[in-house]
Amino acid sequence: MTLSSWHRLYSSPPAASCLQPLHHPLLTRHGLTLWLKRDDLLHPTISGNKWRKLKYILRQALSDRATGILSFGGAYSNHLHALAAAGHQLALPTVGIVRGEASSRDNPTLSDARHWGMSLEFVDRQQYRRRQEAGWLAELAQRYPGYLVVPEGGSCALALPGVAELWQELGQRLPGLDEVILPVASGGTLAGLLSARPSHCRVTGYAVLKGASWLADEICRLYPPAAQDDGWQLALDHHGGGYAKCSASDRAEIALLASQLAIPLEPIYSGKALLGLFRDIAAGAYPAAGSRLLFIHTGGLQGAR
Ligand SMILES: Cc1ncc(COP(=O)(O)O)c(C=O)c1O
Repeated sequence: MTLSSWHRLYSSPPAASCLQPLHHPLLTRHGLTLWLKRDDLLHPTISGNKWRKLKYILRQALSDRATGILSFGGAYSNHLHALAAAGHQLALPTVGIVRGEASSRDNPTLSDARHWGMSLEFVDRQQYRRRQEAGWLAELAQRYPGYLVVPEGGSCALALPGVAELWQELGQRLPGLDEVILPVASGGTLAGLLSARPSHCRVTGYAVLKGASWLADEICRLYPPAAQDDGWQLALDHHGGGYAKCSASDRAEIALLASQLAIPLEPIYSGKALLGLFRDIAAGAYPAAGSRLLFIHTGGLQGAR
């Protein structure tokens, strides 16, 4: 459990996250260039935005000599999955507080997490709703002394700088981008992007949750200067019925997009958001022909197993 293991883990440059041009008749028709940032390829188990969001959380835990890291998530949580994998690689104990019933205990996400040494504690939905309450957090701190407690999805101030580093990769390889587009759930990834947004490049987040008008405030809470920044927006109408919900016809459209574009997609985050983007393009919401867009594939393919 040393910082040198963290340096080793993060020394492989995210060059592995290639930039892939996407070809589709809709893009040609609208005169748009769309690139895909393959963050799903960043690491075999600490995939997508988790690789970026966890980077400085893990470093902090190691440099503070924390006993371990405790965090929260659903039974298919990409965040808990990645945290367990990272804890395993760094010999850092991890605890996952899981919203879920006993029936989901042995799903592939949680089996992996358990296999990597994460201790799992299951709580019902009512208890899980208290995950930000000081009283429960104090109780957990007592039961897990010395643990760094990380919010659901890893979205906290420490998650932002790791995400912000994505711009350096883009600046070097794709200067002059007009817009970056990504799926949004707890808001940390978008907040991290805003913390280093170049003024010429707008950011649009496609919310994957229903009724997510609170997300804008949450993003401003995570990164207060976002409140004065008019270079970003949230698309709130492509949630497909709610978090992790996806109709059979949307699923079929996502599968068709995945095969037309020759990329892997899952229906909860990147698939849902990319479908939303394509629908908005078809509806003329991206009017400037010649625009250069980039979509971030935030990973999460493990959850689709
Ligand atoms: C694969 C994937 N993509 C996107 C997101 C959304 O990121 P954020 O919660 O930072 O908005 C998440 C989870 O939170 C995720 O697991």
